[in-house]
Amino acid sequence: MRSPHKLLILLAIAILALGAIPAAASVQPVHAAHAIVVSVHNLASQVGVDIMQAGGNAVDAAVATGFALAVVHPPAGNIGGGGFMLIRMADGKTHFLDYREMAPAAATRDMYLDAQGNVIPGASEIGYKAIGVPGSVAGMVYAEQKYGRLTLKQVMAPAIQLAHEGYSLTWQEANDMHDRHLAEFPESRCVFQRNGDYYKQGEIFRQPDLARTLQRIADKPDDFYHGALARELAEAMQKGGGLMTAADLAHYQVKEREPVHGTYRGYEVISAPPPSSGGAVLIEMLNILEGYDLGKMGERSAQSIHYTIEAFRRAFFDRAEFMGDPDFAKIPVAQLIDKKYAAAWQETIDPEHATPSKDLKRPAIFSELEQYAAAHPPAQPPPESNHTTHYSVMDADGNAVAVTTTINDWFGSRVTAEGLGFLLNDEMDDFSSKPGVPNSDGLIQSSTNAIGPGKRPLSSMTPTIVVRDGKTVMVLGSPGSSKIITTVANVLMGVVDYGMNIQEAVDAPRFHNQWMPDLVNVEKWFSLDTVNLLQHMGYNVQVGLRYGANTSSYWSDAECIAVDAKTGDRLGASDVRDGGKAVGY
Ligand code: GLY
Repeated sequence: MRSPHKLLILLAIAILALGAIPAAASVQPVHAAHAIVVSVHNLASQVGVDIMQAGGNAVDAAVATGFALAVVHPPAGNIGGGGFMLIRMADGKTHFLDYREMAPAAATRDMYLDAQGNVIPGASEIGYKAIGVPGSVAGMVYAEQKYGRLTLKQVMAPAIQLAHEGYSLTWQEANDMHDRHLAEFPESRCVFQRNGDYYKQGEIFRQPDLARTLQRIADKPDDFYHGALARELAEAMQKGGGLMTAADLAHYQVKEREPVHGTYRGYEVISAPPPSSGGAVLIEMLNILEGYDLGKMGERSAQSIHYTIEAFRRAFFDRAEFMGDPDFAKIPVAQLIDKKYAAAWQETIDPEHATPSKDLKRPAIFSELEQYAAAHPPAQPPPESNHTTHYSVMDADGNAVAVTTTINDWFGSRVTAEGLGFLLNDEMDDFSSKPGVPNSDGLIQSSTNAIGPGKRPLSSMTPTIVVRDGKTVMVLGSPGSSKIITTVANVLMGVVDYGMNIQEAVDAPRFHNQWMPDLVNVEKWFSLDTVNLLQHMGYNVQVGLRYGANTSSYWSDAECIAVDAKTGDRLGASDVRDGGKAVGY
């Protein structure tokens, strides 16, 4: 998600263009007869489509789009971060690639606490110590070599060209680069702020260092983790006081994991497993909601919102307790997404009143959950960032890819690797810095997500593919930290429960609850009458999201695809809230 300011401008443009608020307007997705890419940037979407027209499949296109986003969307696109790629091939085989960042070997549980044991503000967000070992290059190279049709050189060529020749900046892109924390790091100030002579709208932004780095990866991909590139990166990190070493890079591993599978009203839902909480929490919510006829209650009616919030609340309550890196703890996903468990949760929902979050009691139907909860008291959650990015791809054969990738905060740690031209993540911020203290998003999580060497921080990224009768019918995802999960749920329910087209579902007003704080956030587009009804049911409703003194009226950036059941057309929906683009042919 971009700054609240940008969202307001985009909203104003959308309203002028549509003549009404998006929820009330007739909006149509982009139709493509063969293949489509939907991402936050038109150039990145176009690169993916060009690759498919040159004979590539959806994985080739996803990798090409990912590298292109690292050039044209530096606030969140990246080679210095990590991500998750969910692939569903036309034959029904699914693959989930985890290339999440890992904590360096020197990371310690209390590394962001002062001598008094208090969290040092910003320590896990800005600067060298916030950086986790990046996985994006390993993940994209792995995906290309294992599941692509073309060569790495072919799919990286457009990104290298964009970095070398540059691209014209929009007003917003130029303005974003004024970020005050970027100015704290000389290399970042040089690359993104031209040492104070800030880029302006319409100027060409060239990144020669990044072009060279990308060319080196294309020529010798292993170099990033085991060769000269790894040594240069590690040296730059050590020089700045970071923890990451060449050995950390050499130990980095992409993990193929089994995605989580659920069903919702006859649809199969395939999504992200731990170390993302996204898929399990999404499916737990949907399982609870399956007990209610939301469509009959009406889209955005107070009654349907009530049940949806209660499902969100219960699934986030479980998220707080059970989620973390599955390589370090056994996460009870099977129990959490069991329909019997959801049925037991339904029994606890009052049809007319909100359940106060503090009064929730977990149904005692699985001893595994009770034992686990007793052993892992809730701990401080990571202050998750909104500034991630998602893109969705579908090719002419029906292969589909959903990728959510991140450097965590906007421009990550703000550190640019000296001479290498790319930003590094601040993903260490997604660990729990201190047990028992709510994070900046108010999220609470268990000590399962404490910092540890080689561990992957808990994520909310939720790349999701929805299947009906053996065929992919939707490819979904969004940035937005904890809001990612409720955004994906809102879009999916928009199509399945409320009969919206995918663009309407993406643009529809969102609401969010994450158990703690016991709040319901609604976007500014919500009707005040509905807000009043919710308040009468006992909800504490907040319009927008508050971050300290700032309020963001809208959130997330869903970049999604649906497939027209009659024609097979790929329908691309880029979110009205951010300036993305669906491109197809
Ligand atoms: N850094 C955002 C996430 O992984 O959920």
